[in-house]
Amino acid sequence: MCGIVGYVGNKKSAIEVLIEGLKRLEYRGYDSAGIAYLKDNHVNIIKEKGRLSNLEEKVDKKVLSHLGIGHTRWATHGAADSVNAHPHKVGKFTIVHNGIIENYGELKKELEKKGYKFKSNTDTEVACAVLDDLYKNDNDILSVINKAGKVFEGAYAFGVICDDDKDNLYAARKNSPLIIGVSNGENYIASDVPAILKFANKYVLLDNGDYAKINSDEIKVYNNGKEKSYEIKTFEYDASSVSKMGYSHYMLKEIHEQPEVFKNTVNSYLNNNKKIDITKYKSLKVLACGSATHASLVGKYLIENYADIKVDVLTASEFRYEKLFLDKDELVIVVSQSGETADTLEALKIANKNGNDTLGIINVKGSSIAREAKSVIYTEAKTEIAVATTKAYLSQVAVFMMMAIDAGYKKKIISKEEKENILSEINNIPVYMEKLINDDYKIIAEKIYEKNDIFFIGRQVDYALCMEGSLKLKEISYIHSEAYAAGELKHGTISLIEDNTPVISIVTDDEIALKTISNIKEVKSRGANVIYITNRENDSSDFYDEKIMVPKVHFLLQPVLTIIPLQLIAFEVAKLKGCSIDKPKNLAKSVTVE
Ligand code: M6R
Repeated sequence: MCGIVGYVGNKKSAIEVLIEGLKRLEYRGYDSAGIAYLKDNHVNIIKEKGRLSNLEEKVDKKVLSHLGIGHTRWATHGAADSVNAHPHKVGKFTIVHNGIIENYGELKKELEKKGYKFKSNTDTEVACAVLDDLYKNDNDILSVINKAGKVFEGAYAFGVICDDDKDNLYAARKNSPLIIGVSNGENYIASDVPAILKFANKYVLLDNGDYAKINSDEIKVYNNGKEKSYEIKTFEYDASSVSKMGYSHYMLKEIHEQPEVFKNTVNSYLNNNKKIDITKYKSLKVLACGSATHASLVGKYLIENYADIKVDVLTASEFRYEKLFLDKDELVIVVSQSGETADTLEALKIANKNGNDTLGIINVKGSSIAREAKSVIYTEAKTEIAVATTKAYLSQVAVFMMMAIDAGYKKKIISKEEKENILSEINNIPVYMEKLINDDYKIIAEKIYEKNDIFFIGRQVDYALCMEGSLKLKEISYIHSEAYAAGELKHGTISLIEDNTPVISIVTDDEIALKTISNIKEVKSRGANVIYITNRENDSSDFYDEKIMVPKVHFLLQPVLTIIPLQLIAFEVAKLKGCSIDKPKNLAKSVTVE
């Protein structure tokens, strides 16, 4: 959840690189930030609470340094203040850390007995003391990092500086992402490539348990005491994928990229000859977190209705601790934008251990989940920066849509003619998306941005879309909102509906439209302010206050259109409220803690 960056080289000012890298990483966590750099053989540390701009004001970028590490924090252990901020220095070691050292409590007690005193409440300072303690008996930094890795339980990515080595930067990872950026006469470490893309587009992916010694001209990677070979990869997207390209916010830019993302995801799916055949399986179990769960729920309705395969969608963080009812002949699908979500990764490991076939629907290539899954379908959303996902969610829905079309056709539920019609209609979707994206949602936003509670209602696939619409609104505008199955309201929640309570209702499935409309009438007659999102032209206007029309397309294609007004309503509401849209409070883009 935190971001790490490091630099070693003589071509640039380490401080400038660290601050620039941290700016790119701020979306991963942003309650405090800090840097450590070498100057005149001395490690200097500067840390500040709050946003990175606070730290930036305190550093002098003109100071020349050839080696440094930086960190942007999302607090797990200890308050978000400058004492708990990273880097931490104990004895000869200075480190930045992403992840959680689960056994830090026991380690701390042992170290305290040996005389170590701790300033912060963090597990990171304890990890740093472990390195320093091991170093007292073993003067080899690499050997100490290897030994410490065996002592730590949990997850870590470390950037390490040792007072006794002024030329090398050290790095290590287990269950938390870390890459080494490769350039000529200078090298980097970072939590992800976009952080250093301005400086280098070549990188080495560290595997679990790897640790490395890096100077300006040489990178050496080790695992369990042995040096190993590594592959230098090239990041396939250009720097525009990580800039706002003139948009006011990353979220808005990413919403606008959706027509392209949809096309690319569909084409990549169609051109993939190694796809897993889901019709071989009796049922599918889909494990994910947050919006990826919501995309999977849309997928459930599409696949169940058009491919007649049972699909269970489970929250990965719950699945992990439930009694395991996993048939060996079920396909387990994990869905994740980042490919690093800790709960999803652990759920996948359980499925792998159980002997199931596993499939990842993943956006970030080479991520931990992509590497752990037995097969992978990549979504083509490219780098997503805004914490609130839009284009990655849409690309996940697009993959499920394609799976449903494929499987439905194989099982002869979809005829050849229907398949051809669907594929030809897919070509129109990006144009419909453009139109929806360019519609004006400010009038709706003005009506709801001062409210405290908002409800989203729908049935079946529309209910799954409501969940995503509701999450989007609450995460960026901080308005309490709930998504309800329309038929369920009258069993309790309808008591909360009063004059002018906004109820965003979605009706796109003719089969059940009249049932949902009855539920809408129930809230309308209790004073609700109804915003009606539909693809139906001819409904009477007596049960809603505002109507948003989405083009009517084949059932399988409808969700990728219906979601767009929901994303933009959330965006406009958050904008009116003056919220920090790209970096909402308390959140981080990549949730690598459990
Ligand atoms: O990277 P992942 O897709 O695994 O992330 C899962 C959730 O953390 C993520 O979708 C989260 O809910 C988003 N902030 C929602 O916008």
